Amino acid sequence: MAGRSSKLSRETLLRVLDRARWAPSGDNTQPWRFQIIADDKLIVHGHDTRDEILYDFDGHASHMAHGALLETIRIAASAEGLVMEWYAESDIEWRQIKYMVQFVEAPEFSPDPLHLCIETRTVQRRPMRLTPLSVAQRQALLDAPGDGYLVQLFESFSDRKKIAELLWDSAYIRLTCPEAFQVHQSIIEWGARFSKDRIPEEAVGVDRLTAVLMRWVMQSWGRVEFFNRYLLGTFSPRIQLDYLPALFCAAHLLIRPKVPPVCLEDWVNLGAAMQRVWLTATQKEMYLQPEMTPVIFRWYAQTGCQFSSNPRFAERASALSKNFECIVNAIETSPFGFFGRVGISVAPISRSIRLELEQLMC
Ligand SMILES: Cc1cc2nc3c(=O)[nH]c(=O)nc-3n(C[C@H](O)[C@H](O)[C@H](O)COP(=O)(O)O)c2cc1C
Repeated sequence: MAGRSSKLSRETLLRVLDRARWAPSGDNTQPWRFQIIADDKLIVHGHDTRDEILYDFDGHASHMAHGALLETIRIAASAEGLVMEWYAESDIEWRQIKYMVQFVEAPEFSPDPLHLCIETRTVQRRPMRLTPLSVAQRQALLDAPGDGYLVQLFESFSDRKKIAELLWDSAYIRLTCPEAFQVHQSIIEWGARFSKDRIPEEAVGVDRLTAVLMRWVMQSWGRVEFFNRYLLGTFSPRIQLDYLPALFCAAHLLIRPKVPPVCLEDWVNLGAAMQRVWLTATQKEMYLQPEMTPVIFRWYAQTGCQFSSNPRFAERASALSKNFECIVNAIETSPFGFFGRVGISVAPISRSIRLELEQLMC
C-alpha cells in the first residue's frame, strides 16, 4: 500500500528473538542459535543434549524446548503484527535441526494476549498455596494446549498424595543413579540467585543448609554414595524437592497427546502446547513447575532402553511407570507428553535468566 512502511525488518526480528529467548528449556540449556537471513526470514539452529544429559531422552526434551521457542516466536511476532510459519530440515537422528521461520505482515491481526507473559513466566520449585483452581483457571488450563491433546488435572488431596509418593520414588532414581549425578553436577550454578546458562542454586528449591550440604556432597560420586548409604542422604532433598511441593499446589497437570508422537514435528508441537499451558498459567496468575522425570523414566521404560550401567534402575523405572499409569488411569501404551504442578504462590526470588541475544546469534 502506497506510503505505508513495512513492519518487516532485521530490527523487528531482533526484537522478536530478544523476547522469544525467554522460552523455557530443560535445565536452561537453551539448545538454539539464531540466524537472520532476510527481513522476513530467520533460521533457528536447534541442537540437543542427549549425549550429556540423561533427561534428554533421544533429544525429546530439547525438541520440546524447540517447540516452546517457536511458539514464543509466534506469540512475540503477533505483538508486532506479524504471522509466522515454520518448517524443519533435519538430519536423520534429529540432532542438528534447522527450523526455517518465515514472517508475513497481517494488518488486521490482533496480538496473542499471551505475549504479555513471555518474560514473567518462570518455574516455581518451592511449595505453593493450597488455594484450589477457580473455574476460570481450570477451564483455561484444559483449553490451552489446543486440539490434539488431552489435559488431566489432579486436584484432590488423595491424588496429590499419590503423586507425591510417585515423585518420591522417581527422585530416588534421580538421586542415586550415577548417570544422573553427572548431570546435576553440571547444571547448578552454586551460590547464585540468577544464572544465564544453568539453574541458580537458590531456584533449586532447597533450604540454605541443605544447599550447602548438597554442594559439598556433589563434589564427588564417592561422597554421594557414602551419604546416601549411611546418612539417609536422599531424605532431605526428596522431602524438599519432591514430596512437599507435590502436596503443596493446586493441581498436577498431565498433557496427553491424542496420538503418540512419531515424527520430529510431533515432539516440537508438544513443546508448543506445553508453552501455551505454561503461559496460560502465568496469565491466570499461577506458577508452574514441570515434573518431567517420571515421564522421562517412562519413555526409557517403554523403549526398554538402559539408562544406567546398573540394571536395577531400569527395573525401578518400569515399576514407576506402572504406578504412574495406575494413578492417571492410563494403559501401558498411552502417550504422556508433559507433567507438572500448578498453583498460586509468591514470585520466586531466584530464577534462570538467559544468554544475551548477541551470544545466541550466529
Ligand atoms: C522440556 C522441559 C522439561 C523440564 N523439566 C523440568 C523438571 O523436571 N523439573 C523442573 O524443576 N524444571 C524442569 N524444567 C524447567 C527448566 O529447568 C526451566 O524452564 C529452565 O531452567 C529455565 O527457567 P525458567 O523457566 O524459570 O525461565 C523443564 C523445562 C522444559 C522445557
